[in-house]
Amino acid sequence: MKDPDAGRNGVDVLPSVAANPRWTGCACVVCGRHYDTRYEGFVCADCGIDGILDAVYEGGAGVAALVRADGDDTARGLWRFAPLLPVVPTAIHPAWAVGGTALLPAPRLAAHLGLRSLVIKDDTGLPSGSLKDRAAAVALARARQLGFDHLACASTGNAAASLAVLASRGGFRSTIYVPAGAPRGKLAQLLLHGATVIRVDGTYDQAFELSLVAIERNRWYSRNCAHNPLLVEGKKTAALELAWDLTRGFTTDADLPDVVLVPVGDGCIVSATAKAFLELKDLGLVDRVPRVVGVQAAGASPLAQAWARACASQASLDGAQVRAAIAPVAPDTIADSISVGIPRNRVKAWRYVAATGGAFVAVEDDLIIATIRDLAARAGVFAEPSGAAGLAGLVAAREAGLVDPRDRVAALVTGHGLKDPGAALGHCTMPQPVAPLS
Ligand SMILES: Cc1ncc(COP(=O)(O)O)c(C=O)c1O
Ligand SMILES: [Zn+2]
Repeated sequence: MKDPDAGRNGVDVLPSVAANPRWTGCACVVCGRHYDTRYEGFVCADCGIDGILDAVYEGGAGVAALVRADGDDTARGLWRFAPLLPVVPTAIHPAWAVGGTALLPAPRLAAHLGLRSLVIKDDTGLPSGSLKDRAAAVALARARQLGFDHLACASTGNAAASLAVLASRGGFRSTIYVPAGAPRGKLAQLLLHGATVIRVDGTYDQAFELSLVAIERNRWYSRNCAHNPLLVEGKKTAALELAWDLTRGFTTDADLPDVVLVPVGDGCIVSATAKAFLELKDLGLVDRVPRVVGVQAAGASPLAQAWARACASQASLDGAQVRAAIAPVAPDTIADSISVGIPRNRVKAWRYVAATGGAFVAVEDDLIIATIRDLAARAGVFAEPSGAAGLAGLVAAREAGLVDPRDRVAALVTGHGLKDPGAALGHCTMPQPVAPLS
């Protein structure tokens, strides 16, 4: 074990972090092989890069009681759900102080969309402006536990920004691989927070491959949610907070949503959302699980396309069959954060979404832009294109019979509009200036 503070830039000593004793290891989503908590790899040794692992915990009534008790403690942000996370910091530190975002009822937007009720989980309010901070917080805590001082990732921008912001708060070093076309707002976050930025003249998928080689060679800690299974656990906390708020501390299911709409890039957020509800059900904290609907941009929709092709067999496919069913596409969408040709967490995402009775759908870019406007004007939430894509999938979800007018709907808004204002501004009419008083 390295000295956890050796080599860090910071002058402050970080609180220590321990493994959650109830986290028992990880299972491969393709072949099911189990790895205990000492396993240092990120993917299954038998299945390679597609053998994404999934964290497993001991269940039982004791854990349910802990989740109820910790859930009361809003001051701890996402760490109030530490019994369901792999690591547990001994104290809150700015490097991992994240979570507790607003859950906004949106009655005017619901009426406009013909819904009985709609709530927005607004993760634009996190420190770097996207839900990705939840994964970065767990990454930094885990890096602290293992004694790493340098983290790295590939990202379309938001995962990178979350790493850059929180690494700066904790005095960690960060190296980030981004596609050269990442929006300027996102690049500004990386550069100003002191990350080493490598702009890859290619797609996100190519940046990801390059990052894996560098991480291995330099022995950095990987903040690639696409293959580090522990980071997906952090992303569960958006759904856990949503469930806590709507069930008034797991005392009633009456207002639990029937459907939760989630944007999909690599498939980590949607896996995590479904997993969170399924874990709550296993613990007896909720009686039913909402249908989780994963929404991809039509120009980057390998999961939605394969889902439609699989017809009625979607829920019965095993990991290897899911892997075979999904063909890569050449991504093309304004929603840069979900512009992914082959989602790395596709098997995990498919199987978790299927387990909730949900589905994958696709949405055209013009509907994403219209949804950005609706969210801003009727609910007071400014989303980037990928952040609005979940709600934008409502029309397709209805057409697919996944949403009934009597349903309660929740949508995760995952990224702030100021990161990429050009996308929506290009579709607004700029007012002509008027003369000032003379
Ligand atoms: C704002 C936003 N929404 C959604 C996603 C998709 O998340 P995932 O890659 O976990 O599917 C991303 C990923 O970068 C994102 O930044
Ligand atoms: Zn495997």
